[in-house]
This record gives sequence, structure tokens and C-alpha cells, in this order.
Amino acid sequence: MRIIFFAGKGGVGKTSMAAATGIKTAAMGHKTVIMSLDVAHSLSDIFDLEHDLLDQNRGQPIEVSTNLWIQEMDIQEEIEKNWGDIHKYISLILNTSGIDEILAEELAILPGMEEVSLLLYINSYFNNKEFDVIILDCAPTGESLRFISMPTTLEWYMKKIFKWERTIAKYARPVIKRVSNIPLPGDDYFEAIAALFKRLKGVDKVLSDPDITTVRLVTNPEKIVLKETQRAFMYFCLYKMNIDGIIMNRILPDDAESGYFKDWSVLQKQYILKAEELFRPIPIFPVNLFNSEVIGYDNLKGLADKIYIDQDPLKHFFKGEPYNLIKEKGGYKLLIKLPFLIKKDIELNKISDELIIRIGSFKRHILLPRQVAASTSIKATMEEQYVAITFQGDDHD
Ligand SMILES: Nc1ncnc2c1ncn2[C@@H]1O[C@H](COP(=O)(O)OP(=O)(O)OP(=O)(O)O)[C@@H](O)[C@H]1O
Ligand SMILES: [Mg+2]
Repeated sequence: MRIIFFAGKGGVGKTSMAAATGIKTAAMGHKTVIMSLDVAHSLSDIFDLEHDLLDQNRGQPIEVSTNLWIQEMDIQEEIEKNWGDIHKYISLILNTSGIDEILAEELAILPGMEEVSLLLYINSYFNNKEFDVIILDCAPTGESLRFISMPTTLEWYMKKIFKWERTIAKYARPVIKRVSNIPLPGDDYFEAIAALFKRLKGVDKVLSDPDITTVRLVTNPEKIVLKETQRAFMYFCLYKMNIDGIIMNRILPDDAESGYFKDWSVLQKQYILKAEELFRPIPIFPVNLFNSEVIGYDNLKGLADKIYIDQDPLKHFFKGEPYNLIKEKGGYKLLIKLPFLIKKDIELNKISDELIIRIGSFKRHILLPRQVAASTSIKATMEEQYVAITFQGDDHD
């Protein structure tokens, strides 16, 4: 199976590229599903489908042509299916705090539920071999980062918080009951979380396996868009995801060089060169700005030919280790490929077996293997495009 993410800043062309790629892989005979992780769900619009069709389908995949399905999740359906007892408890708390029951139900859709629901689908499609190709049309950068951080966040929560929370709730329930009418979660709530976690088992490995999953960043030759692409690149590396292509979309055609768009055209050329330098050795796929909207099957098929020309879109266009742990001089070295990092931006903290990497407002917890976690000294240095974190000494505490 092959999973391809299309990610990038808002409006750069993610949905169009995802749809075009899906059309091409389906035409090559691979059973393909394009899934949308964007609440604004524009897949159906881009395929020019009637909305009713999707509404009737309650968030399940619909077949749009031979071998090709699209799926736009319906969070209400997912809540009924996956989140029953968890959602019930959260709405109960909100309702106890005086919020109207209907509003409480609405508010009890926590950030992350949609992402976890999508992970459940990916895991089930992968385990049951339902599709040959899964194409993910991501939400703009920030939200898609929450999606990729979800498996590690959940693992951290289950290892560090869940057991305690459950034990505390068990013993504190009778006491709290006497002094407050806010209920503590019951066993059904905890069991529902444990069951959900079990269904997600293995999905983190699937997403970080470069033989299965790759990320294609969609960008435009413009200063601010490129900046965000660099940032996205760094974060995907941090999550061990293999980026195998940069799609440079909306390039003005040559005849723009001498008209109203002359200055734009000059600027774009500079940014394209800059992007080649920034993302080398990852290949860049240039795509021209079309002379009209790219909507409907035929236009999207034309777009796919522009992106891949005669190449197989399932190919791994680049394979590299963004993240590597090696044994060295009696200690360990964790190498993380973060090419656009300036050292002062990074903050490291090790608490027991956990390494916390903070870059600006972004944070990642890495659970360290036991031998590595036993180290007493950690040091970070920059080694070309890598942050090298060295662990030395034994902590016998
Ligand atoms: N190369 C292109 N030439 C012409 N129009 C394009 C091109 N690429 C994308 N578009 C158009 O730009 C608009 C936005 O594209 P698209 O929806 O794919 O972007 P997106 O990154 O998914 O946006 P969002 O972040 O809102 O989800 C669409 O109307 C699409 O038809
Ligand atoms: Mg989109």
C-alpha cells in the first residue's frame, strides 16, 4: 500500500494536487481513495459533485470513477460511531457547568477528534487492505501538524497520564461526589479511550514508514508561501515523515514576462531558484498557472500530466533519513534533519525517559529508548542540516 500526503499553506493547491494524483493512480489501475482532512471539505467541489450525494453517504467513501473513491468525513457520524462514551462524558461536564444541553453537545467535539477519526480510517484501510493507495488532502499547515503529532501525543497521554487519571478518578469519586455535583469520569469513559487507542495501534509506524508513506509539499513561488513551506518541511522531518517532492504550483507562463505580470514573473523566477537551493536534494515539480480554474475530472487529469509528465506518481521521488539514532563513543546520538533551524531556536529538556524538543511555540515529546534515557548529559549541536543530540553517561537514579 502507498499513502501520499499533500500538505502546505492555505490556498496553494493541495486539494487540486491530491485530486489530480488520485485520478492518475486510479487510471493506472490502483484502487485509490482520496481523503480530506479539511473541515472546509472542497474535494466534492473540485470534482464538481452534488453535495447531496456526499450528505446521503454519511461520510463514507463514494466512488467517483473506476478505481477512484473520495471520502469527506462527517464528524457527527464519527462521534456516534467512535466517541460515544467519551463525548457523552464531556457534554455532561459542560452541561453540569450550566451550558445548555444542545450547546454542550456541540462544544464537546474536542480538537483532535476529527484527526483521530481519520487515523482510525487509515489504520483500518491499511490493516484490511481495502485500498492500494490512500491520498490525503491535508488542511493548511498548522492543522495538519496537529494531525501528524496525534499518534505521539496519544502514546504520551496513554503512558504518562491515562493510568493515573483512571486511578485518581476511582478513589476520588466518592469524595468529590459529596462536595461537588461535577461527575468524575466513570469506567465506560476510560474503557472507551483504551479501546480507541487499541484501534490506533500501529498507525504511527505506517505513517513514518518511508516505504509506505511520503509527503508532498505544495507551494507557490512567493516569499511568504516559501517561508511556510520551509517551516512545514522542518516539522514533517521532526515527525520522521519522508518528504519526497515539492510541487511548485501557479508558475506564470512565459508570455507573462512582457505584460502586466512582468514583475511577478521576474520575482517568481528568483523564488524558484531559491526553492531549488533550499530543498535540494528533494525534487521540485513545477506546475504552471492554468488559464482557468482546475475543476472537474478532465481538467484534473490534465493537471496530473503536468505534475508527473510520464512518471509514476507512486514512485518514491526521494528517500532519506530525516531522523536517526546511532550509537557512538559509548553514548548515543540522535540526528534530526531540520534544515532551516538556527540553533537559538531550539530548546531541549529531558525529564526521565522523555525528551522535549521545543521550537518556537511548537513542542514535541520523544519517548527515549531505555538505554538512551539513562544518560545524564545531553548536548545539542548543529551538523549541517541535522540537529545532533548527544546523550552521554548513565543515570543510575
Ligand atoms: N495551477 C493552477 N492553475 C489554475 N488554478 C489553480 C491551480 N492550482 C490551483 N488552482 C485553483 O486555485 C484554487 C485553490 O486551489 P485548491 O483548493 O487546490 O487549494 P488548497 O491548497 O487545497 O486550498 P485550501 O487551503 O483552502 O484547502 C482552486 O480554485 C483551484 O482550481
Ligand atoms: Mg483544500
